[in-house]
Amino acid sequence: MAVRLFEARHHAVLYQKYRFSPSENLQSLIFSYFEEKKVDPIRLAVDVGCGSGQSTRVLAAHFEKVVGTDISEAQIEAAKQAASFPNVSYHVCPAEELPFEDGSVDFITAFAAAHWFDMPRFMKEVDRVLRPHGCVALSTYTTDFSMHYKDCSERLTEIFTETRDLLLEYADEKVKLVFAEYKEVFESVPFQDKRRFLDTMGVCSNETQVEIRIRSVCVLGCKGRQMENPAMTQ
Ligand SMILES: C[S@@+](CC[C@H](N)C(=O)[O-])C[C@H]1O[C@@H](n2cnc3c(N)ncnc32)[C@H](O)[C@@H]1O
Repeated sequence: MAVRLFEARHHAVLYQKYRFSPSENLQSLIFSYFEEKKVDPIRLAVDVGCGSGQSTRVLAAHFEKVVGTDISEAQIEAAKQAASFPNVSYHVCPAEELPFEDGSVDFITAFAAAHWFDMPRFMKEVDRVLRPHGCVALSTYTTDFSMHYKDCSERLTEIFTETRDLLLEYADEKVKLVFAEYKEVFESVPFQDKRRFLDTMGVCSNETQVEIRIRSVCVLGCKGRQMENPAMTQ
């Protein structure tokens, strides 16, 4: 079942202001996988659960056309209002009903979003819309952040961890997919050629000087290639 949070206008405004784009490490992991697998010509990438577009815009330089999709009208409105690129557009729709023809998409991404989707229905759509040798990249950060700022790093991390633990009591069931570091997401990818990566990286929001070190997990899959043993890389 899909879970519908993050949809209100004020939430979208906060996203636009504070959310960080996928880190350089994560981007290079994803794009080198895609480079390895791709078959020309490359045209269309779709960023599902794109929120206010931070994750969508990083795709612009790599594809002829990029479409960000999200179930929230307010998030898509915020994405449209941000500075962007001429080849990027946005569309309101559920991840489980993507408005693309069968076999028409080269690359599908979902950053910090896939765990909210109805996984079986989403994976069916991924399989339907991807062209042969098209790829999917589903990533998220885990919840064990460490904070770094001058000489308060230890205390900041403690405060963050205490607050996180307090809030987690109220978290939706879907967050368990993140705690399990996307193992179930990896299992759900309907292709034999797939990988799961874990990496630690530092990120900063646009508005703060605090560096946040996060661990990210990324599940990658390529449609239509056969492999004996799917790899699990850590
Ligand atoms: C945590 S945000 C991530 C946004 C963006 N990808 C980023 O990295 O900043 C999750 C997004 O997924 C969207 N979402 C949740 N369930 C969805 C669904 N079933 N179909 C499409 N979008 C969905 C939410 O509206 C929200 O914008």
